[in-house]
Amino acid sequence: MRIGVDYYPEHWDRALWRQDAELMRETGVRVVRVAEFAWSRLEPEDGRFDFAWLDEVIELMGERGIDVVIGTPTSCPPLWLFEAHPEISQADYSGQRDLPGIRGHRCYQSPVFREYAGRIVRRLAERYRDVKHVIAWQIDNEVEGSFCCCDVCVGKFREWLKRRYGTLEAMNAAFHTDVWSGDYSAWSQVFPPVKNHPMTQYNPGLILDFQRFASQSTEAYVAFQRELIRSIIPGARITTNSWFCEHLPDLYSMYRELDFASYDNYPSTVPDGSSHALHLDLMRGVKRRNFWIMEQLSGLPGCWMNMGRAPQPGMVKGYALQAIAHGADTVVHFRWRCAVGGAEMYWHGLIDHSNVPGRRFKEFEALCEAVRALAPADGSRIESKVALLFGMDNEYAFRSQLQAEGMYYMRQLADWHKAFTALGVNVDVIDQNADLDGYGVVVAPTMYVRSETAARSLHTFAERGGTVLLTCRSGVKDVNNNCIMAPLPTDYADMVGAHVAEYDALGADSARVRFGDEVCRITCWADILESDGAEVVATYLDGFYAGAPAVTRNRYGAGKVYYFGVYGEAALCRGMAERMLKDAGLAYRADLPEGVELVSRTNGDARYTFIFNNGPKPAALDWEGKTLALSPYALRVPELGDFEL
Ligand code: GLA
Ligand code: ZN
Repeated sequence: MRIGVDYYPEHWDRALWRQDAELMRETGVRVVRVAEFAWSRLEPEDGRFDFAWLDEVIELMGERGIDVVIGTPTSCPPLWLFEAHPEISQADYSGQRDLPGIRGHRCYQSPVFREYAGRIVRRLAERYRDVKHVIAWQIDNEVEGSFCCCDVCVGKFREWLKRRYGTLEAMNAAFHTDVWSGDYSAWSQVFPPVKNHPMTQYNPGLILDFQRFASQSTEAYVAFQRELIRSIIPGARITTNSWFCEHLPDLYSMYRELDFASYDNYPSTVPDGSSHALHLDLMRGVKRRNFWIMEQLSGLPGCWMNMGRAPQPGMVKGYALQAIAHGADTVVHFRWRCAVGGAEMYWHGLIDHSNVPGRRFKEFEALCEAVRALAPADGSRIESKVALLFGMDNEYAFRSQLQAEGMYYMRQLADWHKAFTALGVNVDVIDQNADLDGYGVVVAPTMYVRSETAARSLHTFAERGGTVLLTCRSGVKDVNNNCIMAPLPTDYADMVGAHVAEYDALGADSARVRFGDEVCRITCWADILESDGAEVVATYLDGFYAGAPAVTRNRYGAGKVYYFGVYGEAALCRGMAERMLKDAGLAYRADLPEGVELVSRTNGDARYTFIFNNGPKPAALDWEGKTLALSPYALRVPELGDFEL
């Protein structure tokens, strides 16, 4: 486990580099990421390269035992390149190009961009191939699906559709273009959806396919850089840094050939009860092993909005420790120092504009110290009996067609993640199409778009004795994003042992549900169920569907299948989670204080329990007969000793 920082030597006077490197060494920084936006300083003119400054920085780090990650600088090409080749910018529907001088606006598909990007990446890889302490490569920066409408992208989208459907007739049938005179009579009529135009006005089949295409284009771009680096440095460790952006590429396929997953982690600085643990578990699930944080919260967020609240005491250190608890082996803080110039000067780093290390920096020092204390747990892994499924198609399709106010695919995941983690069990968040062997409970929220693989493996998992939870809006769409003409939850109805007779989109309205002895409130959605043999677990108390089942449980093969037809308040989800853990015979803790997160990690026979207080108030819990106290945002690992980190 190690701590690092994102460093921008090109922003600072050379005189500061040595001081910075020295302070990093003293503080315990073990890795820096550099160069991911520095193209114009690395290639000031077409074909004229200047690596001297980077050589110097890399050497300064190496001399102090600090490892280096090089980010390929392709997210913002230099202005000379835009001037010579305006076609490397993304274009909108009218052909208008993005303005040069911002970032992230290059068209991944442009052959000219690829040529220049390939050249700078190759030169970097050749230059630093033999430098032992260059330990990893980050491809570009926060790549996401683009809505570029340039000729190249439009052509590639048409080709993609041709490959998928063969003929216009087949594509028209798949998209149900009978609606709104949407029939295509020539491929030249096909365009990507326009960025920022409401997705709800487009053909849902086109939208879903476009998102798949945009994802695959991003993946191909990442693969292009990956292969290039690998051809020069066969043993290179290569990643790209992700965040939960609007047009997320398919994380599972994008990272398949990369060496590790990495994530940019900016938990909320407002103590609002939310937890970033879902994102952390999701990133660990991408390659089903430990991962990196490539950018970690260090100060007030800002720039892209009003500045956010200053991180509360404990947050800078605590959120990094929380990430480590959930499997981040390396946490790199964004950024060493606040920028004094440029668009991003108010996204704060560890050291303030004044260059006087302050409160947050002291916490960072304490973090480096804390990580040293965690060394015995290095190499430990998180094993989980509970899996939460994530499906890229579900995310794409759900996001582009609103269902009811307050209803989001990611929210469902967050609700269920919270319900299980509140009971102190490890949760893996994994691809819906992944292998489910070894799990006891599988939570499959909103299996919205058909995946035959996922449906098959959930059936098999239940048949063999697993406990499954399915929720409302499952089995709604076929692979083309059209509604399936069968009673919901269609592909899952047999295992659920019930069907949806009707539904109500409650939005912000609510209804009450009786669950055991409790009465709980639900919002957003109400599936009005009819049992085909399933036992009724909860019933509605209000409206025209009072008395109808809201939640059911069915025996299927040797297993049990719950169907949750509503969006529940936390107590209801938690009650459900508890039931499922009992059904599956899994141990859990019902006595954890609000916000306390417990992750158990193992390394052979050794076991380490990472107990994190994700909240602004002190907490206390029972640990092997003793009371264990936790300050706000503090971590304890009782197996390592009786101290707080
Ligand atoms: C992203 C980017 C960084 C920086 C931060 C903060 O994570 O990768 O370069 O812009 O956001 O805004
Ligand atoms: Zn393009």
